[in-house]
Amino acid sequence: MYEDVLYDAMFRRRSVRKYSGPLEPDMMDKVRNFAHSLTPLRPEIRTELRFLDNEEVKGLFKVDAPHFLALYSEPADGSAANAGFMLQQMDLFLSANGIGSCWQGGSWPVAMGQGEKRTNFISLAFGMSAEDVHRQDVSEFKRKPLGEVTALKGMEDLLEPGRLAPSAMNKQSWYFSGSEDAVRVHCARSSLSGRMNQINAGIALYHIWLAALHERGGAELAIENDGDGDSPKGYSYVASVMLK
Ligand SMILES: Cc1cc2nc3c(=O)[nH]c(=O)nc-3n(C[C@H](O)[C@H](O)[C@H](O)COP(=O)(O)O)c2cc1C
Repeated sequence: MYEDVLYDAMFRRRSVRKYSGPLEPDMMDKVRNFAHSLTPLRPEIRTELRFLDNEEVKGLFKVDAPHFLALYSEPADGSAANAGFMLQQMDLFLSANGIGSCWQGGSWPVAMGQGEKRTNFISLAFGMSAEDVHRQDVSEFKRKPLGEVTALKGMEDLLEPGRLAPSAMNKQSWYFSGSEDAVRVHCARSSLSGRMNQINAGIALYHIWLAALHERGGAELAIENDGDGDSPKGYSYVASVMLK
Protein backbone atom coordinates (compact mmCIF):
# COMPACT_ATOMS: atom_id res chain seq x y z
CA MET A 1 0.00 0.00 0.00
CA TYR A 2 1.29 3.48 -0.82
CA GLU A 3 0.96 4.70 2.78
CA ASP A 4 3.72 2.24 3.79
CA VAL A 5 6.05 3.65 1.17
CA LEU A 6 5.41 7.22 2.33
CA TYR A 7 5.81 6.11 5.97
CA ASP A 8 9.29 4.72 5.25
CA ALA A 9 10.29 7.90 3.42
CA MET A 10 9.79 9.97 6.62
CA PHE A 11 12.86 8.28 8.16
CA ARG A 12 15.10 8.71 5.11
CA ARG A 13 14.15 11.89 3.23
CA ARG A 14 16.36 14.95 2.99
CA SER A 15 16.23 18.25 1.10
CA VAL A 16 17.97 18.15 -2.27
CA ARG A 17 19.50 21.38 -3.58
CA LYS A 18 21.50 20.09 -6.60
CA TYR A 19 19.69 18.73 -9.64
CA SER A 20 20.91 16.91 -12.74
CA GLY A 21 17.84 17.31 -14.95
CA PRO A 22 14.09 16.96 -15.49
CA LEU A 23 12.00 13.83 -14.88
CA GLU A 24 11.27 11.35 -17.68
CA PRO A 25 7.74 11.93 -19.07
CA ASP A 26 6.44 8.65 -17.54
CA MET A 27 7.63 9.63 -14.10
CA MET A 28 6.24 13.15 -14.53
CA ASP A 29 2.84 11.57 -15.31
CA LYS A 30 3.02 9.61 -12.03
CA VAL A 31 3.83 12.80 -10.15
CA ARG A 32 0.89 14.61 -11.80
CA ASN A 33 -1.43 11.72 -10.91
CA PHE A 34 -0.25 11.69 -7.31
CA ALA A 35 -0.81 15.47 -7.12
CA HIS A 36 -4.51 14.80 -7.81
CA SER A 37 -4.70 12.47 -4.80
CA LEU A 38 -3.33 14.78 -2.05
CA THR A 39 -5.45 14.75 1.12
CA PRO A 40 -6.26 18.20 2.52
CA LEU A 41 -6.26 18.99 6.24
CA ARG A 42 -8.98 21.60 5.65
CA PRO A 43 -11.11 20.43 2.69
CA GLU A 44 -13.21 23.60 2.93
CA ILE A 45 -10.25 25.79 1.87
CA ARG A 46 -9.94 26.14 -1.90
CA THR A 47 -6.48 25.30 -3.28
CA GLU A 48 -4.99 24.94 -6.73
CA LEU A 49 -1.85 23.04 -7.72
CA ARG A 50 0.23 24.12 -10.71
CA PHE A 51 3.45 22.71 -12.15
CA LEU A 52 5.96 25.45 -13.04
CA ASP A 53 9.38 25.41 -14.73
CA ASN A 54 12.54 26.92 -13.26
CA GLU A 55 12.16 30.15 -15.30
CA GLU A 56 8.64 30.65 -13.99
CA VAL A 57 9.80 30.94 -10.36
CA LYS A 58 12.04 33.53 -8.69
CA GLY A 59 13.04 34.41 -5.15
CA LEU A 60 15.35 34.18 -2.21
CA PHE A 61 17.18 30.90 -1.43
CA LYS A 62 15.60 29.40 -4.56
CA VAL A 63 17.18 26.14 -5.69
CA ASP A 64 17.98 25.62 -9.37
CA ALA A 65 15.49 22.81 -10.01
CA PRO A 66 13.79 21.83 -13.29
CA HIS A 67 10.27 21.59 -11.79
CA PHE A 68 8.23 23.31 -9.11
CA LEU A 69 4.90 22.22 -7.71
CA ALA A 70 3.12 25.39 -6.61
CA LEU A 71 0.18 25.41 -4.22
CA TYR A 72 -2.10 28.45 -4.40
CA SER A 73 -4.61 28.87 -1.63
CA GLU A 74 -7.54 31.12 -0.94
CA PRO A 75 -6.75 33.32 2.09
CA ALA A 76 -8.35 31.65 5.13
CA ASP A 77 -7.56 30.67 8.71
CA GLY A 78 -5.66 27.40 8.56
CA SER A 79 -4.61 27.78 4.92
CA ALA A 80 -0.87 27.71 5.67
CA ALA A 81 -1.09 24.53 7.79
CA ASN A 82 -3.28 23.01 5.07
CA ALA A 83 -0.63 23.82 2.45
CA GLY A 84 2.11 22.23 4.58
CA PHE A 85 -0.03 19.15 5.17
CA MET A 86 -0.73 18.71 1.44
CA LEU A 87 2.66 19.39 -0.12
CA GLN A 88 4.48 17.20 2.41
CA GLN A 89 2.65 14.23 0.88
CA MET A 90 4.35 15.09 -2.41
CA ASP A 91 7.74 15.61 -0.71
CA LEU A 92 7.54 12.04 0.66
CA PHE A 93 6.22 10.63 -2.64
CA LEU A 94 9.15 12.14 -4.53
CA SER A 95 11.68 10.89 -1.98
CA ALA A 96 10.15 7.39 -2.05
CA ASN A 97 10.61 7.39 -5.84
CA GLY A 98 14.26 8.48 -5.67
CA ILE A 99 13.48 12.01 -6.88
CA GLY A 100 15.06 15.06 -5.23
CA SER A 101 12.88 17.79 -3.71
CA CYS A 102 13.17 20.90 -1.55
CA TRP A 103 10.53 23.15 0.00
CA GLN A 104 10.80 26.77 -1.21
CA GLY A 105 9.70 29.32 1.36
CA GLY A 106 11.17 32.45 -0.25
CA SER A 107 10.13 31.92 -3.86
CA TRP A 108 7.09 32.93 -5.86
CA PRO A 109 5.90 32.77 -9.49
CA VAL A 110 7.38 35.36 -11.86
CA ALA A 111 3.88 35.96 -13.21
CA MET A 112 1.41 36.32 -10.39
CA GLY A 113 -2.18 36.77 -11.42
CA GLN A 114 -4.21 39.79 -10.40
CA GLY A 115 -5.23 39.52 -6.77
CA GLU A 116 -2.71 36.73 -6.11
CA LYS A 117 -0.44 37.38 -3.13
CA ARG A 118 2.87 35.81 -2.23
CA THR A 119 1.43 34.93 1.15
CA ASN A 120 -1.09 32.60 -0.49
CA PHE A 121 1.57 30.65 -2.29
CA ILE A 122 4.18 27.99 -1.40
CA SER A 123 6.10 25.58 -3.59
CA LEU A 124 8.19 22.45 -3.68
CA ALA A 125 11.16 22.29 -6.08
CA PHE A 126 11.93 18.88 -7.57
CA GLY A 127 13.87 17.03 -10.25
CA MET A 128 16.43 14.28 -10.85
CA SER A 129 18.96 14.60 -8.08
CA ALA A 130 22.70 15.20 -8.38
CA GLU A 131 23.17 14.27 -4.70
CA ASP A 132 21.90 11.68 -2.22
CA VAL A 133 18.10 11.69 -1.95
CA HIS A 134 18.09 9.60 1.23
CA ARG A 135 19.73 9.59 4.62
CA GLN A 136 21.20 6.26 5.68
CA ASP A 137 20.27 6.60 9.35
CA VAL A 138 17.90 8.64 11.56
CA SER A 139 20.94 9.95 13.47
CA GLU A 140 21.74 12.07 10.39
CA PHE A 141 18.66 14.27 10.96
CA LYS A 142 19.62 17.52 12.73
CA ARG A 143 16.63 17.92 15.01
CA LYS A 144 15.77 18.95 18.59
CA PRO A 145 15.38 16.05 21.05
CA LEU A 146 11.75 14.95 21.47
CA GLY A 147 11.69 16.22 25.07
CA GLU A 148 11.99 19.83 23.77
CA VAL A 149 8.85 19.64 21.66
CA THR A 150 6.54 17.53 23.84
CA ALA A 151 5.95 16.37 27.40
CA LEU A 152 4.06 13.27 26.18
CA LYS A 153 5.64 9.94 27.05
CA GLY A 154 5.14 6.53 25.51
CA MET A 155 3.94 7.86 22.14
CA GLU A 156 7.29 7.90 20.37
CA ASP A 157 5.90 5.79 17.52
CA LEU A 158 3.77 8.82 16.54
CA LEU A 159 5.84 11.75 17.77
CA GLU A 160 9.26 10.71 16.45
CA PRO A 161 8.04 11.09 12.84
CA GLY A 162 6.72 14.56 13.81
CA ARG A 163 10.11 15.44 15.26
CA LEU A 164 11.85 14.44 12.01
CA ALA A 165 9.63 16.63 9.78
CA PRO A 166 11.30 19.29 7.64
CA SER A 167 10.73 22.96 8.49
CA ALA A 168 11.68 26.37 7.11
CA MET A 169 15.24 27.22 8.27
CA ASN A 170 14.98 23.95 10.27
CA LYS A 171 13.20 25.95 13.00
CA GLN A 172 11.04 22.99 14.17
CA SER A 173 8.58 25.58 15.43
CA TRP A 174 6.02 23.05 16.71
CA TYR A 175 4.81 21.59 19.99
CA PHE A 176 2.91 18.34 20.51
CA SER A 177 0.44 17.87 23.36
CA GLY A 178 -2.43 15.47 23.97
CA SER A 179 -3.31 12.17 25.59
CA GLU A 180 -3.85 8.53 24.66
CA ASP A 181 -6.83 9.67 22.55
CA ALA A 182 -5.34 12.51 20.55
CA VAL A 183 -2.17 14.29 19.56
CA ARG A 184 -2.53 18.08 19.29
CA VAL A 185 -0.11 20.09 17.17
CA HIS A 186 0.66 23.72 18.04
CA CYS A 187 2.88 26.24 16.24
CA ALA A 188 5.04 29.03 17.62
CA ARG A 189 3.47 32.48 17.17
CA SER A 190 5.70 35.01 15.41
CA SER A 191 5.09 38.31 13.64
CA LEU A 192 7.97 37.60 11.24
CA SER A 193 7.69 33.89 10.54
CA GLY A 194 4.15 33.08 11.66
CA ARG A 195 3.06 31.79 8.26
CA MET A 196 6.12 29.55 7.85
CA ASN A 197 5.58 28.24 11.39
CA GLN A 198 2.03 27.24 10.44
CA ILE A 199 3.27 25.52 7.28
CA ASN A 200 5.86 23.68 9.38
CA ALA A 201 3.16 22.57 11.83
CA GLY A 202 1.04 21.27 8.94
CA ILE A 203 4.02 19.23 7.76
CA ALA A 204 4.64 17.73 11.23
CA LEU A 205 0.91 17.03 11.58
CA TYR A 206 0.97 15.05 8.33
CA HIS A 207 3.91 12.99 9.60
CA ILE A 208 2.05 12.22 12.86
CA TRP A 209 -1.17 11.33 11.03
CA LEU A 210 0.69 9.04 8.63
CA ALA A 211 2.42 7.38 11.61
CA ALA A 212 -0.96 6.89 13.33
CA LEU A 213 -2.43 5.28 10.19
CA HIS A 214 0.59 3.01 9.96
CA GLU A 215 1.13 2.16 13.63
CA ARG A 216 -2.40 2.28 15.05
CA GLY A 217 -4.41 1.12 12.04
CA GLY A 218 -6.37 4.36 11.71
CA ALA A 219 -6.75 7.94 12.90
CA GLU A 220 -8.86 10.97 12.10
CA LEU A 221 -7.99 14.60 11.64
CA ALA A 222 -9.90 17.14 13.69
CA ILE A 223 -9.96 20.81 14.63
CA GLU A 224 -11.01 20.60 18.27
CA ASN A 225 -12.97 23.53 19.72
CA ASP A 226 -10.92 23.50 22.92
CA GLY A 227 -7.65 22.53 21.19
CA ASP A 228 -5.88 25.69 22.33
CA GLY A 229 -6.55 24.74 25.97
CA ASP A 230 -3.16 23.09 26.19
CA SER A 231 -1.16 25.35 23.84
CA PRO A 232 2.03 26.37 25.64
CA LYS A 233 2.66 30.11 26.09
CA GLY A 234 3.53 31.70 22.75
CA TYR A 235 2.02 28.87 20.70
CA SER A 236 -1.28 28.54 18.81
CA TYR A 237 -3.27 25.36 18.33
CA VAL A 238 -3.30 24.05 14.75
CA ALA A 239 -5.11 20.68 14.59
CA SER A 240 -5.34 17.21 16.14
CA VAL A 241 -4.87 13.61 15.16
CA MET A 242 -7.63 11.60 16.91
CA LEU A 243 -6.36 8.10 17.74
CA LYS A 244 -8.28 4.83 17.75
C1 LIG B 1 8.17 25.65 4.61
C2 LIG B 1 9.63 25.41 4.26
C3 LIG B 1 10.33 26.33 3.51
C4 LIG B 1 11.65 26.08 3.13
N1 LIG B 1 12.30 26.99 2.34
C5 LIG B 1 13.53 26.70 1.86
C6 LIG B 1 14.16 27.59 0.92
O1 LIG B 1 13.59 28.61 0.53
N2 LIG B 1 15.38 27.24 0.43
C7 LIG B 1 16.03 26.10 0.84
O2 LIG B 1 17.14 25.84 0.38
N3 LIG B 1 15.45 25.25 1.76
C8 LIG B 1 14.22 25.52 2.26
N4 LIG B 1 13.60 24.64 3.13
C9 LIG B 1 14.27 23.39 3.53
C10 LIG B 1 14.73 23.41 4.99
O3 LIG B 1 15.87 24.22 5.12
C11 LIG B 1 15.00 21.98 5.42
O4 LIG B 1 13.80 21.23 5.37
C12 LIG B 1 15.54 21.88 6.84
O5 LIG B 1 16.80 22.52 6.94
C13 LIG B 1 15.69 20.42 7.31
O6 LIG B 1 16.54 19.69 6.45
P1 LIG B 1 16.05 18.40 5.66
O7 LIG B 1 14.85 18.82 4.83
O8 LIG B 1 17.20 18.00 4.80
O9 LIG B 1 15.65 17.35 6.64
C14 LIG B 1 12.30 24.89 3.54
C15 LIG B 1 11.58 23.96 4.31
C16 LIG B 1 10.27 24.19 4.65
C17 LIG B 1 9.52 23.15 5.39
